[in-house]
This record gives sequence, C-alpha cells and structure tokens, in this order.
Amino acid sequence: MTEVSSHQPGSGVHSYPGKLIIVEGIDGSGKSTQLLLLHKWLESQGHKVFFTEWNSSRLVRDTTKRGKKAKSLTPTTFSLLHATDFASRLYHEIMPPLKAGMLVLADRYTYTAFARDVVRGVSPEWVRKLYNFAVRPDMAFYFKVPIEVAISRLLTGTRGQFKYYEAGMDMNLSQDLTESFRLFQSRILIEYDKIVDEYGLIKLDATKDIETQQNEMRALVTDALKDYKPKRGTYGRRTVFWRRFDVSQPE
Ligand SMILES: Nc1ncnc2c1ncn2[C@@H]1O[C@H](COP(=O)(O)OP(=O)(O)OP(=O)(O)O)[C@@H](O)[C@H]1O
Ligand SMILES: [Mg+2]
Repeated sequence: MTEVSSHQPGSGVHSYPGKLIIVEGIDGSGKSTQLLLLHKWLESQGHKVFFTEWNSSRLVRDTTKRGKKAKSLTPTTFSLLHATDFASRLYHEIMPPLKAGMLVLADRYTYTAFARDVVRGVSPEWVRKLYNFAVRPDMAFYFKVPIEVAISRLLTGTRGQFKYYEAGMDMNLSQDLTESFRLFQSRILIEYDKIVDEYGLIKLDATKDIETQQNEMRALVTDALKDYKPKRGTYGRRTVFWRRFDVSQPE
C-alpha cells in the first residue's frame, strides 16, 4: 500500500517530516480545551496545523449513530466501528498532512480504544493488534484527573446530562446516569494508568488551572519541536508535491 511507504505497520514509528501530537484522558479531563489553545498558539507561531478528532469520520458516522440509537452495539461491534473510523481518518486526515510536513493534532487516539474497549470487555491484546496499522504519535499527552473533578466540570459546563454510551450505561453498572458514569470512567482511569506506563504517555496534572497546564504543554512541545523543520518556501512545496504522488523527485 503506497500510503504506508514511510511507516512500518506494527512498529508504528513514522519517518514523515510532520509531527503528530495527541491528547488522551477521561471525559471532562480538559483535553479539547488544552488542544484548542495549543492549536491557536502553534498557528500564531506560523505553523501549519491540521486537527482531527475521535469518532468523526463521515464513513461510519451514520452507522454508529444508528447503532447507538437502537442500543444494538456490542463491545466488539463498537470497537470495530471505532477502528474503522480511525483507519479512515489515519489514511485521509493524519498521514497526508504528516507527509506534507505539517503538525497534526489529534483529540483522542488509539489509547482511547485500548482503555474503553477493554473496560467494555474486549481483550487488551486483541484491541492492540487491531490498531497495529496506526502511526505512533511523536508526543502523547495524558490528562490525569480524579473522577469527581471530571463529573463536576461536565455537569456544570454546557453539556448538561451524560449520554447513554458516554456513561457506559450499556454495561449495566447502575441505572443512574451519573453513578454509571462514575463507575465506568473509574475503570477507564485504571486502564489509562496501565497505558501511560506501557506507551510512555506524558502525564499532566489536569486538576491545575487551564493557563498553568497550557504553559506546561507549550514548554514540552517547544522542546520536542526543536529539530522540526516546517516546510516553507519553494523547496518545501516541491517536496510536498512529489511526496504526494509517491514518486522520486527528479534532480
Ligand atoms: N483546568 C480546568 N479547570 C477547570 N475547568 C476546566 C479545565 N479544563 C477544562 N475545563 C472545563 O471542563 C469542561 C470539560 O472540558 P473539555 O471539553 O476540554 O474536556 P474533554 O477532556 O475534552 O472532555 P470530552 O472527552 O468529553 O470531550 C469544559 O466546560 C471546560 O471549560
Ligand atoms: Mg473533548
């Protein structure tokens, strides 16, 4: 497959000129807030940035919606739908800008599946193998927050009541939405703790205020981008052009 010419499935390590930065954490940990601020800041520094988020591809959106509405999703079908969404975005939204030397920001990545799907009952080995076509991120942030902080942020924010699957109601943990959310997300936190160690995610204290966390993130990203050469000018455009068609650039 031409798309993966600079990426070995399984190892996940890419050698594209761009950089992939992803965020993870339970619902209400503040991931989107931080990633949006980082996005604006990177653009203000002159970087070309592409953003993508979990469960957003048009390919499976209607099917997922239908399955959720009918409450007919099983742990395996749910997992496979998310993997299809991810695969579609990887090939259409993540790898092309990475090849073009851009910065790609992803709100949730494979680790979300490793945490949630395992809590729903799929095997940890199976779901890791399922995603072995994925590119390993250059930076992966984990926003660690206690359940009660996440709950109070979500209930006092614009979101209002929890949704059925978000609260893990399909797992029959409790008939009460908030209690189900608490139990479900507590289990996800345990999985995330394992994932942080296994994949070396950068752990941030997500109870801190928004500005403090953003400053920490920016300092870490600045350091990680020290050797990053953004594609600018004629040379960059030509390189991008040839790479897009996967042919060697003539002398
Ligand atoms: N550090 C913080 N302190 C207090 N409130 C915060 C903080 N970070 C985010 N919030 C607020 O908490 C709520 C949830 O934040 P956000 O949407 O960024 O979380 P999220 O991790 O993206 O959640 P989800 O996974 O459900 O998308 C928002 O109302 C946001 O304004
Ligand atoms: Mg979010």
